[in-house]
Amino acid sequence: TMPKVVSIVEVGPRDGLQNEKSIVSVEEKINFINLLSKTGIKRIEAGSFVSPKWVPQMADSGDIFSGIEKSPSITYSALTPNIKGLDAAIESGVEEVAVFGAASESFSMKNINCSIEESLKKFEPVIAKANTHNIKVRGYVSCVMGCPYEGEISPSAVADVSKRLIDMGCYEISLGDTIGTGTPVATKRLLDSVLNVVNIKQLAVHFHDTYGQALVNLYSALEYGVATIDSAVAGLGGCPYARGASGNVATEDVLYMLNGMGINTGIDMEKLLVATQFISEVVNKVPSSKVANALLAR
Ligand code: HMG
Ligand code: MG
Repeated sequence: TMPKVVSIVEVGPRDGLQNEKSIVSVEEKINFINLLSKTGIKRIEAGSFVSPKWVPQMADSGDIFSGIEKSPSITYSALTPNIKGLDAAIESGVEEVAVFGAASESFSMKNINCSIEESLKKFEPVIAKANTHNIKVRGYVSCVMGCPYEGEISPSAVADVSKRLIDMGCYEISLGDTIGTGTPVATKRLLDSVLNVVNIKQLAVHFHDTYGQALVNLYSALEYGVATIDSAVAGLGGCPYARGASGNVATEDVLYMLNGMGINTGIDMEKLLVATQFISEVVNKVPSSKVANALLAR
């Protein structure tokens, strides 16, 4: 059954900006996150403590966390693939982190330079240490409905990795359709499998909109009762290690749909569009979001 309330995880400052060719300054990122903090969003993925050689766009995440105006009602999180990343996050006062694995061996190699099994071994101490610091850990699983290198990925492979992450202490699993190839039927097949091992309350969906399927896929997920949705204002985003992966589903498109369905998010559309417009000007792009284009053109 449809949830009455949905929690949006705004991933624009991380997933959006990690893939931007233009350099976005620390000050602009901080302004962007501060604008997002005014919208009613309760969860913001603000940065990533990864190797600066791999993702130079996120090298300033420590400065971002110390520079933003933190609202006590908002959780600001970051990606931490290893202990080095976690330690940097702890140093910066991060309250929630995420490890990121994949259901595809080839993508795991390209993205984090190790096999799925090796990645889980590396995540185990990260999750354990975070939990001893009272830091919640989200577990991402990428390529849940397709891999840029291997094509189709079986739902059972996704369920297996998800279960391992939950067993290691992740409080939430975010299912990433990294290259946006999923369709509603594939979404249902995926959830039928993953819900055998993960409680619906622990499940988030993270859909990229490469093929224009993200909203219909989200609708399918909502029908299953999924109540946590990752999105990025202006439809920013993409993974540098997934060629052709375009942006995340746009937060304003998701909000428009949820508002129309009477599902509460606590987010103010006008304020959201201020953040959309700001970051679109910074990266000098027209937002990919239909809703932003419709409403900002008025
Ligand atoms: P590696 O080269 O195998 O790691 O990379 P290493 O441990 O051998 O270290 C190599 C160098 O990196 C060393 O420096 C380390 O100190 C440094 P050197 O001695 O050569 O000068 N290093 C670090 N520096 C800063 N922070 C760290 C860190 N770790 C090592 N945490 C590693 C392995 C995982 C580090 C690397 O592959 C990496 O950083 N990958 C990140 C890739 C990434 O960020 N991808 C995008 C995010 S995932 C995504 O977008 C998908 C998602 O949105 C969901 C979806 O859509 O599907 C989440
Ligand atoms: Mg992503």
